Amino acid sequence: MKVLGINAVFHDPAAALVIDGVTVAAAEEERFSRRKHGKPPVAFSTWELPEQSMAWCLAEAGIEPAALDAVAYSYEPDLAFQPNGDITAAEWEGLRTLYARRAPLFLSTALPGLDPDRVRWVPHHVAHAASATFASGFDPCGVLVLDGRGERASHLAGRSSGGTLEILAAQRLPHSLGLLYEELTAHLGFRRSSDEYKVMAMASYGEPEFIDAFRDLVRTDGRGGFAVGDVDLSSFAPALAPGAEFTPRHAALACSVQRRLEEILLELAGWLHARTGDRDLVMAGGVALNCVANSRLWRDGPFERVWVQPAAGDSGTALGAALQVAHELGDAPAPMESAALGRGWDDTALARRLATADVAFERPADVADAVAEALADNQVVAWFQGRSEFGPRALGHRSLLADPRRHGNLEKLNDIKGREQFRPVAPMVLAERAGEIFDGGPIPSPFMLFTHRVRPDWAERIPAVVHVDGTARIQTVDREQEPLMARCLERFEARTGVPVVVNTSLNTAGRPMVDDPRDALECFGSSPVDLLAIGPFVVRRAGIAAGSESAERAAA
Ligand SMILES: [Fe+2]
Repeated sequence: MKVLGINAVFHDPAAALVIDGVTVAAAEEERFSRRKHGKPPVAFSTWELPEQSMAWCLAEAGIEPAALDAVAYSYEPDLAFQPNGDITAAEWEGLRTLYARRAPLFLSTALPGLDPDRVRWVPHHVAHAASATFASGFDPCGVLVLDGRGERASHLAGRSSGGTLEILAAQRLPHSLGLLYEELTAHLGFRRSSDEYKVMAMASYGEPEFIDAFRDLVRTDGRGGFAVGDVDLSSFAPALAPGAEFTPRHAALACSVQRRLEEILLELAGWLHARTGDRDLVMAGGVALNCVANSRLWRDGPFERVWVQPAAGDSGTALGAALQVAHELGDAPAPMESAALGRGWDDTALARRLATADVAFERPADVADAVAEALADNQVVAWFQGRSEFGPRALGHRSLLADPRRHGNLEKLNDIKGREQFRPVAPMVLAERAGEIFDGGPIPSPFMLFTHRVRPDWAERIPAVVHVDGTARIQTVDREQEPLMARCLERFEARTGVPVVVNTSLNTAGRPMVDDPRDALECFGSSPVDLLAIGPFVVRRAGIAAGSESAERAAA
């Protein structure tokens, strides 16, 4: 069966193509449109489809829209607010419902030849759940969807067995952990529904001074759900203007909400485990990108294994909806081995692109070794290899790499990316070495969805990647799955004795991650990155020769 999954409601529009149960392509629209998060999550934008990512998924597999057995749309208008003729009621929610219901018409316009009767709606949280249950390969397993909102609910707790989802609890709106965290994000001067990870970073600068108040305000209900009371964030710390410096009270507020969120997740997981007794838990939904909470759940929760969908936000519902419908049509969805499901280019196409850009490039005998040499020389490297990642994390395909031994590289990378200096950058480590250097989180951790403690004897050796609270959000690199990156780490260790490099996403502030070779060249040309490793080729910044360390760099 050929099933195209679509996320078009709210934001992070995306498309995914599943053929005979195998995910052959998945991509977010922002990587094509170069508009961060694709579109605003307002009712008016619901008609807008991920047209470029849909078209690319089909082209990648060489199929026409008419060949699709189904299109899975990750929102069920029948479950949503019903407009009763007045689409302006309830803050235009009726418009969202109307547009979702008309999706077959929009889709058959965007994909000429598609039979509109092939479009199926999948409830938003069923799609999130499927993105974790099927993609994890865990069966049976407990599943938690922790979201801002779906049609009428903000969360789902259930059990999946043999591909069948049993929903055990679903918390109805307005109670929402995701929306509470979004409120806090906006209160702290960041972009709502986008910058939540900045709050998580800020939380580690504070103490949970207001935890008692949040224990009163946010409570589980003993039935698998929870209630969020009327929270006046200003009573804890005044609202921050965008870009304003945060105070200890703001950090304390962030820390208090973060800690309470962790406690609530532990209680929800405890309730689920008591009902099902399963060994494994899988998670999705935007809140499941909270890697600090995920690690707390892994450490202190009742489940032995915890798997989180790397595209846990709404883009992942495109994949989940496709997997769910593939299952309903009789296919057995295969687990997701890698997040590298986006666009890729062969060497010839890359060479052609570099020639068109008229930049000097070379083809070293071993690009992984050439990059390791540059990193050991304290250069910053843009690493563009293979297919791009599905989901918000750079996992060694569209990454910025640097030497973790120099603390100054944290500031340097934040400057390159135009980010706040309190934001951490993350380490990438050879999977078989990770346990020597990190603990307190699951290993392997290939998708950067958990934080780990840096062992004390290593913290001084890799200061650039150690967050203020002594943790790091690691990515473990498996030799079989990521042979090129693994070789780069190995060659870096041969030079420095350290099997770790700094990894952050390849983009500059406010822009989506680099996706195609032209994006890579634009990013390289407009920021002080020393070397671009693109496929087997390297492009050096003028004036930097292989193996040279300038006096200025040595002093840094
Ligand atoms: Fe969602």
